[in-house]
Amino acid sequence: MRPTVLMIMSASVDGRITTGPGRNVDEWSVRWPDRGAPQLLRTWLDRWGVDGVMSGSESVLIWSAHPAAAGAADHQGEPWPWPYIVFDGRGRITWGQTAGLIVVTRANVANAYREQLGRQGIDTVWAGTGEHIDVGGALDQLYRRGFRRLALNGGGRLNGVFLRTGWVDELLVAWEPVLVGGETTPTIYDAADLASPTSMIALERLGAGPGPGGSVWGHYHVLDHQH
Ligand SMILES: NC(=O)c1ccc[n+]([C@@H]2O[C@H](COP(=O)([O-])OP(=O)(O)OC[C@H]3O[C@@H](n4cnc5c(N)ncnc54)[C@H](OP(=O)(O)O)[C@@H]3O)[C@@H](O)[C@H]2O)c1
Repeated sequence: MRPTVLMIMSASVDGRITTGPGRNVDEWSVRWPDRGAPQLLRTWLDRWGVDGVMSGSESVLIWSAHPAAAGAADHQGEPWPWPYIVFDGRGRITWGQTAGLIVVTRANVANAYREQLGRQGIDTVWAGTGEHIDVGGALDQLYRRGFRRLALNGGGRLNGVFLRTGWVDELLVAWEPVLVGGETTPTIYDAADLASPTSMIALERLGAGPGPGGSVWGHYHVLDHQH
């Protein structure tokens, strides 16, 4: 069993989710101070009634290096009111803010990281003993802990793992009125190139419309995963 997963992302019109590799998406505010997407995402998380928000380790490392946001915060530095679930399989993050935090990591992560989690009393989901977190196993454990509706808020590679495996049920994208470009800039969905066009994931549009700050939103049901 696994929770329903609602992927929710802000993006440029060309699908980028930040200004460049290793860069914080908040930098969009330099060019577009009146960003509407963070507000829109927050509204949708409330509307969906999610009971947790998931993120990848790279996103959190980048956010926490940014003065405006650290750990469990949205793009404007507001604390999330929901449990914040971070996939840190390699044990790379030094945790400061731990309120509401759940770390998902591998059972074979380095001892120093295991000790950090224990020392700080951080709620931990142990999933997998291989090279990567066993994401399916982690979702099963989260379900057994009572999580039923989880938001997935990137980055592109964690989204890619979820999408390729068929673990995303709905998708909300808030497009900001900007074009970013780039060759290795993270996108909504970063994964290996498709082996076949049949591996495209079909979506059914549930709704779409204008959002604040010139943004546009699209809400989709994820239909199939033919791979
Ligand atoms: N616009 C938005 O809404 C938005 C939202 C979030 C983030 N962002 C931006 O996204 C960028 C970061 O994205 P990113 O794609 O570089 O990193 P990311 O998705 O945050 O981090 C990569 C994640 O994927 C996991 N992973 C990779 N391969 C895996 C596999 N085979 N099995 C299981 N887990 C796997 C990694 O696990 P390990 O921990 O084990 O390495 C890590 O947690 C940042 O610039 C951030 O600002 C934008």
